[in-house]
Amino acid sequence: MFADRVLSGMRPTGSLHLGHYHGVLKNWVELQQQYECLFFVADWHALTTHYDSPEIIEQNVWDMVIDWLAAGVDPSKATLFIQSKVPAHAELYMLLSMMTPLGWLERVPTYKDQQEKLTEKDLSTHGFLGYPLLQSADILIYRANLVPVGEDQAPHLEFTREICRRFNHIYGKEIGFEEKAEAAIKKLGSKRSRLYNELRNRYQEQGDESALAEAQSLLNEQQNLNMGDQERLFGYLDGGGKMILCEPETLLTEASRMPGLDGQKMSKSYNNTISLREDPDSVTKKVRTMPTDPARVRRSDPGDPAKCPVWQFHMIYSDDKTREWVQNGCKNAEIGCLDCKSPLIKMILAEQAPMHERARMYEEDPTLVRNIIADGCEKANQMAEETMRDIREAMGLSYS
Ligand code: TRP
Ligand code: SF4
Repeated sequence: MFADRVLSGMRPTGSLHLGHYHGVLKNWVELQQQYECLFFVADWHALTTHYDSPEIIEQNVWDMVIDWLAAGVDPSKATLFIQSKVPAHAELYMLLSMMTPLGWLERVPTYKDQQEKLTEKDLSTHGFLGYPLLQSADILIYRANLVPVGEDQAPHLEFTREICRRFNHIYGKEIGFEEKAEAAIKKLGSKRSRLYNELRNRYQEQGDESALAEAQSLLNEQQNLNMGDQERLFGYLDGGGKMILCEPETLLTEASRMPGLDGQKMSKSYNNTISLREDPDSVTKKVRTMPTDPARVRRSDPGDPAKCPVWQFHMIYSDDKTREWVQNGCKNAEIGCLDCKSPLIKMILAEQAPMHERARMYEEDPTLVRNIIADGCEKANQMAEETMRDIREAMGLSYS
């Protein structure tokens, strides 16, 4: 019933690195070719854990948006915005909080995990507990059905689907729903209403998913049905009420295997990153000083790529021929480690060259980025408002 829409958000936690590029941004760049996409800076989310250091947010926000643009996220294809500039996220978060059982939030696995991990902070706050619900509001407010996230976020998506179902269940029931749905079926015409009933029975009695899909596409093809009746008939298929909100699906991004300079996962907290727009001299120096197989003390000592972080970089950047050259050269001590690193340096610099290129005008003229975001926020506000109208009405708040 709702058209495909992709939404994802990122916290403004500092300048992005190649791990973000390979793990997230490359995927966004592909998605924007295929779908309507919304990408936003989750600045309120940053405050759920960093409420005591607000000074880091502003600079990080703009740097991060430049990193997105540098990576190839295209503002003429995707809508880029900042969460706090679309206040309706907060309104929906608050409204959803009315019907969110506390136990559901306490059971989100990241809640206890993060509290235990981030011991230096007091995270026994309302905001931190409510953070998955804020994420639900971010998603549901745009009726986004596709949400690309890493595995760590999967529980939040599951939580969001549960909130969505609960919302539709509680607020999708209008008075006289069944009668209205039956009347809407008649409007389909005799042939189609027979088909609709048949498919609905097959789904409800036998759980036949293909019947559900077929019925949904039947409804999608109806042009003479008004929005309200169409929504009712979608809802009537599974016995519930109207579908006011849309259940999002996780588009699992393959876990980034991007290693850091030391072979651990690339992460700011391990201090092993190459930043997205790092200058070429610094990249060269970092790769040249990367640790290698400790067995290769001298050039004449054979090594084993399996024990070397440099090899992991070859797995990302090199073709088969180069990899073979590394394997043989390393195991037979025919190449030195600096030789081994040199094609990598070339590949990384080549990957980054277009990013520097794209970033340059944004670095030189900050108003460009401000304007892109202002446009995006305006669009996002409009889309959010459309959903909010239905939500306020469903929750009894649309009087004047
Ligand atoms: N919670 C996500 C993270 O920490 C960021 C985020 C906030 C998000 N709202 C979202 C991601 C909505 C996807 C959809 O990475
Ligand atoms: Fe690592 Fe390459 Fe040196 Fe072998 S030759 S130890 S793979 S850097």
